[in-house]
Amino acid sequence: MAKGDKDKVQFPHRHLLGIEGLSPEEISILLDRSESYVEQNRRTDKTTLLLHGRTIINLFFEDSTRTRTSFELAGKRLGGDIINMSVATSSVKKGETLMDTAMTLNAMHPDVLVVRHPHSGAVKLLSEKVNCAVINAGDGAHEHPTQALLDALTIRRRRGALSGLLVAICGDIRHSRVARSNIHLLNTMGARVRLIAPKSLIPAAVERLGVEVFHNMADGIRDCDIVMMLRLQRERMSGNFLPSIREYFHFFGLDYEKLSHAKEDALIMHPGPMNRGVEIDTDVADDVGRSVIREQVEMGVAVRMAVLALLALNPEYGGKVDG
Ligand code: ASP
Ligand code: CP
Repeated sequence: MAKGDKDKVQFPHRHLLGIEGLSPEEISILLDRSESYVEQNRRTDKTTLLLHGRTIINLFFEDSTRTRTSFELAGKRLGGDIINMSVATSSVKKGETLMDTAMTLNAMHPDVLVVRHPHSGAVKLLSEKVNCAVINAGDGAHEHPTQALLDALTIRRRRGALSGLLVAICGDIRHSRVARSNIHLLNTMGARVRLIAPKSLIPAAVERLGVEVFHNMADGIRDCDIVMMLRLQRERMSGNFLPSIREYFHFFGLDYEKLSHAKEDALIMHPGPMNRGVEIDTDVADDVGRSVIREQVEMGVAVRMAVLALLALNPEYGGKVDG
């Protein structure tokens, strides 16, 4: 690829609000671009000037370690100006609404807003009010598109392709935006998805998602290429979804016995944060031969660089491609 050509590859959307609705080609554009940043992130000098002069604001109404930090690093490594708005010390605490907050930030001419919010649909609503590109960093139980992309990049690098793989997503599917984004992405890219969870943690209308459902780990995991574990999203649970943590771990926690039903070389994944001893046994989580949990975090920076670059420089929406 000639110098500058990769900057001309276009992503035909103003925002990244979800994976649902993206075509296989669009997902591939995002993954291929992400791939190009993996090496840059491993160098001693990690910074370029691609987003020089662009302003990115992280606006997180929910806690985050990985997503917020990696967007910040991603923006910095591309030479952009990125700031974290601290919601806890902002005028949100004085009663300012999400929309007024968004309009206030919009008046400062950012190029990209990265938003996490506890309510499904809130990020889309915000995107309709501002002039810049908006990236969904997780909205309620709806979508977490950059998580699914970094999971896909991790799998693609390990297995060469997504198509034809059998992927088990296990745990609290009902409250998980990670599960939803992954289901859309994996189905779109030709993988087969199995969901494994107690009945109380399977979402309503699951039959519309194009997946197989299991309530028993041994059956669900059998012959899978990928085992993706999910945290219990207690912050989104109202009422009693589980008898006890001990019982939950016994039936649905990933340990070596349950893992033995998967393919011998099956990869273990988890979006983080993990609750060791709840959804995953600590030795399994740290198994360097099988677990790619740290690699997922590494790929998160590359994916967020790709998404920031493609949206901030999108010529269809006024972004200028230099060089
Ligand atoms: N960090 C992911 C999310 O924000 C998963 C989790 O919190 O369990 O959706
Ligand atoms: N996986 C994920 O989104 O992690 P954080 O909640 O720490 O950002």
